[in-house]
Amino acid sequence: MTTTTTWKHLCPAAKVSEEEPFSVQLGDLRIGLFKVDGKVYAIDDVCPHAFALLSTGFLEGHVVECPLHGAMFDVRNGECHSGDYDDTRVFQVEVREGEVYVNLDGSDAG
Ligand code: FES
Repeated sequence: MTTTTTWKHLCPAAKVSEEEPFSVQLGDLRIGLFKVDGKVYAIDDVCPHAFALLSTGFLEGHVVECPLHGAMFDVRNGECHSGDYDDTRVFQVEVREGEVYVNLDGSDAG
C-alpha cells in the first residue's frame, strides 16, 4: 500500500518565534505556526468554535488560548483542554534548510 503526502512550503522558519506565532494563508486554509522549546507546530489557525485566529491568542507552554472565548488548545495534538469545544486540526511540520513545510494530509504533528 502506498501512502501519499502533500507537503507545502509555508514560510521561512525565521518568521516563527517563541514570542510570536505566525499565520499563513494557504488556499482556503489558515495555518497557525507556533514555536515551543525550539520546535515548530502547525494547527488550523481558525478556532473550531467561531472565527478567531488562534495565532493571536495567548500561548503558555504548549497551550494556546483562543482570544475570543478562551478555549485552550494543545498545539502538539490539537486537543481542546477547556469548555465544550471541538479539537482543532494539526499538521505535521518539517523545517528544511530554514524553511517551514507542512504535510496537509497529516493529522498528527507528533
Ligand atoms: S472563537 Fe475560539 S473559543 Fe470561541
